[in-house]
Amino acid sequence: MALYSEKVMDHFRNPRNVGVIEDANGVGEAGNAKCGDIMKMYLKIEDGVIEDVKFETFGCGSAIASSSMATELIKGKPVEEAMTLTNKAVAEALDGLPAYKMHCSVLAEEAIKAALDDYNSRQGKAE
Ligand code: FES
Repeated sequence: MALYSEKVMDHFRNPRNVGVIEDANGVGEAGNAKCGDIMKMYLKIEDGVIEDVKFETFGCGSAIASSSMATELIKGKPVEEAMTLTNKAVAEALDGLPAYKMHCSVLAEEAIKAALDDYNSRQGKAE
């Protein structure tokens, strides 16, 4: 069996939603001290719905594929639903990641949660 699923390779080679949203109203970052990889998420939220999401990832292929898939999973979704996104759901949507690469999907969950926290605090309802 190949180490990486076709979906991982597809999202690594053709990542969706790469870039920056200049007028984002939620921005979050996550990093892993061990591998040094960093992921940044930009959210444009209107009426409680994620209208647009973009990411910048300085990291491994699994981190790029995880960012790409995570943005696809939350785009167009209500904030409450995006809050419940787990790294496991991201990895499952990619048809799995090798065990030692699961932490790459954790970055996606953390970066999105950080961006949603930023959005909430800008709305004056910090956790
Ligand atoms: Fe650290 Fe992938 S090796 S995020």
